[in-house]
Amino acid sequence: MRPAELWRHNSFRLALGVTLFILTTLMLASGFGYGLMKSQLAARQDARVTEIFAGIRQTSLENDEADLIESITARIKASPDLSTIFLLRGEGGNILVGNIDDVTLPPGWSTVPAAKLGSATDYPYRMFSGQAGQYTLTVGLTNADLDDLQEIVLAAFGWAALFAFLSTLAMGTFLAMRVQARMATAEAAVARVALGDLAARLPVSGRGDDLDRISAAINTSLARLEGLVEAMRQVSADIAHELRTPLNRLRIRIENAANLAAKGTDVTEELAAAILESDTINATFAALLRIAQIEAGARREQFVALDLAAVLRDVADVYSEVAEDSGQTLTSDAAGPAWVMGDKELLTQSFANLIENAIRHCPPGTRITCSATAGMGHVTASIGDNGPGIPPGEHDKVLRRLYRLEKSRTTEGTGLGLSLVKAVADLHGAELVLTDAAPGLRVDLRFAQILGAL
Ligand SMILES: Nc1ncnc2c1ncn2[C@@H]1O[C@H](COP(=O)(O)OP(=O)(O)OP(=O)(O)O)[C@@H](O)[C@H]1O
Ligand SMILES: [Mg+2]
Repeated sequence: MRPAELWRHNSFRLALGVTLFILTTLMLASGFGYGLMKSQLAARQDARVTEIFAGIRQTSLENDEADLIESITARIKASPDLSTIFLLRGEGGNILVGNIDDVTLPPGWSTVPAAKLGSATDYPYRMFSGQAGQYTLTVGLTNADLDDLQEIVLAAFGWAALFAFLSTLAMGTFLAMRVQARMATAEAAVARVALGDLAARLPVSGRGDDLDRISAAINTSLARLEGLVEAMRQVSADIAHELRTPLNRLRIRIENAANLAAKGTDVTEELAAAILESDTINATFAALLRIAQIEAGARREQFVALDLAAVLRDVADVYSEVAEDSGQTLTSDAAGPAWVMGDKELLTQSFANLIENAIRHCPPGTRITCSATAGMGHVTASIGDNGPGIPPGEHDKVLRRLYRLEKSRTTEGTGLGLSLVKAVADLHGAELVLTDAAPGLRVDLRFAQILGAL
């Protein structure tokens, strides 16, 4: 990975940013600690200078000059490396004893470079000058320890910072490369999807991290998309397959009419049948279009609060005579009220389709029942019959467009009635359940209940 590429990775930038932040904080804290330590050491050094000074001063007050000089000489001998320096002057300013050059310092504290004192060391001295009886005494201590400490601490900081920076760089690169490797597989999967392979899935490592969660969410969407596309493909195939039969019938009718016309026979009947056939095809397309429009969901905006029991009652009233004419009975105990949000026209159409199915696909003598119950936050509309029913294995299939049971192929209809009911149920967020009523079929539509007319 090139450095420019590395910089584009969030993980790398994050690692670098965090390290720089920690490093800065560490530097500030260490600098503060170092300052504190230095001032403590300086105070201790001053205390030692003061102590030595006080000791010599005491000698000057208690003993004679020879003793004083002897005592200082002993101290000078004890410090051959010039870590401690002394200078004693007499009343006239003449040097009595000392291990440094002749320098005149102001009374009190001063910090003096070694060169000025004739010392070969590199470090400055911390010095105190003052009166010791009739003498002027100067005592000093080298700053070597303090300066060494400063050097050690600064070097330690430098190395630590360099090490932290390099290890971050290595860590950031490692992280970026690891993430990059996962991203590359994800990118490859997305590219496959873009080329039409909807079965491609993003890798999920199982660590449950951010990338895993996003990948899992995308995979869920892809699975749903794959299902939808497959369903669409199935629908198109079904429609193409199912429409071939009526189109063939239409062609045969026209061919027959042409043959009859060639023989000079009257073709009015054949043409009337052809018109009827094309009307059926037209109606099928109109119904398919209507289902597609319902599925598009635009009508949801026109939903109003309505009493589903009243809607079902009205449809049952209209169909009770039709059922009677077919030698069947249609009863309704949809008492209500059972309030839902919905589209009255579509719901009326759905109930009509279900009742029509019971009338059309069941023999005379069948009892058809309609009911609507409300409670526990739901409203359920049911249309049941004690006719031949639909085998449970076919319950899903009859909801597909144009699908009809083998035995119904000769009865009137297009096989779109239940598809429309399903589309309307989905639009309303309602659950559509087909149950084997043994004997017969029961269709339940379960809606979310609302509290009343708004
Ligand atoms: N109450 C029922 N009893 C028995 N079979 C039924 C019943 N309702 C539906 N079916 C079966 O399910 C199939 C699909 O029904 P659907 O309503 O979708 O189409 P259809 O009634 O054949 O035509 P149409 O488009 O005119 O409604 C029917 O062809 C029939 O075989
Ligand atoms: Mg039908």
